[in-house]
Amino acid sequence: MNKIHIPVLLKESIDSLNIQKDEFYIDCTLGDGGHSVEILKNLSKDGLLLSLDHDQYAIDFAKEYYPKEVTQGNWMIKKANFKDIKTCAKEVGRNPKGILIDLGLSSRQLEDSHNRGFSYQEADEPLDMRMDQDLGVSAKDLLNVLPEKELGNLFHTYGEEKYAYRIAKNIKKNISDINTVGDLTRLIYKVVPAVNSNKNPSRRVFQALRIVVNDELNNLSKVLDESFEILQKEGRISIISFHSLEDRIVKNYFFEKQGSGEGELLFKSHIAPTDDEKEQNPRSASAKLRTLIKK
Ligand SMILES: C[S@@+](CC[C@H](N)C(=O)[O-])C[C@H]1O[C@@H](n2cnc3c(N)ncnc32)[C@H](O)[C@@H]1O
Repeated sequence: MNKIHIPVLLKESIDSLNIQKDEFYIDCTLGDGGHSVEILKNLSKDGLLLSLDHDQYAIDFAKEYYPKEVTQGNWMIKKANFKDIKTCAKEVGRNPKGILIDLGLSSRQLEDSHNRGFSYQEADEPLDMRMDQDLGVSAKDLLNVLPEKELGNLFHTYGEEKYAYRIAKNIKKNISDINTVGDLTRLIYKVVPAVNSNKNPSRRVFQALRIVVNDELNNLSKVLDESFEILQKEGRISIISFHSLEDRIVKNYFFEKQGSGEGELLFKSHIAPTDDEKEQNPRSASAKLRTLIKK
């Protein structure tokens, strides 16, 4: 197996954690392990890293790809949703000095999805979009079950899609013909007026469906609360977000903690990728890194 995902803002995010070699760290989003392995390099034998991912394929990949690191004794890998970070830390019996969350999908999930249809470019895949194989409701279930207005609201709220209600209306009208990614992207092409943009018109609809299928925004709010609670004093939470909905939640939470005197922002605003990084890894383009220090 090859590594597919290129870690975003790698140096910046690792520096932001100010890693102390004997301490306990949690990487909430293992993915292909790029950030985890970098954290591990900074730890001594007494230091400990717990890496979580709710996608079993990510867990299996890391265990196979990093045999040496996995057996050295200070890296624990666990299939879990990061919203349960408090329980995960309790099982370890230590409070973390730093927490990293690199939100969204990995390039592996987009390019080697195990038939889950995360990418609007994979026309033949089914409309599933569950990152965690144990979740019950797929993207296709949402299209089937939600009434037209609710589906429109979903595209409007979570995709910030201008033609949300028009798309919802046409989906419901043609629901029996929509099974695959290609069925949905072709419908969207027909419904959304051609605009002078290099962005695929399906992008926002796919984002909205993925957010709701995986309950991404609620998970984020919960992991923020629990992370802050379990973090040691002077410990740091660093979060990399990729779209405005998730960044707004992180930003508001961090500013609130700074306002109440319970936390301090490491950066006045956020850190973005350099032009070089964006050129080498276009998927990094919209990334924003924010860090909060617990006081
Ligand atoms: C952008 S990738 C992380 C990439 C990783 N930092 C690397 O360098 O390879 C995001 C990962 O987070 C996982 N993920 C997303 N939401 C999660 C959640 N609520 N709980 C646990 N893992 C989650 C995804 O399955 C995906 O593997």
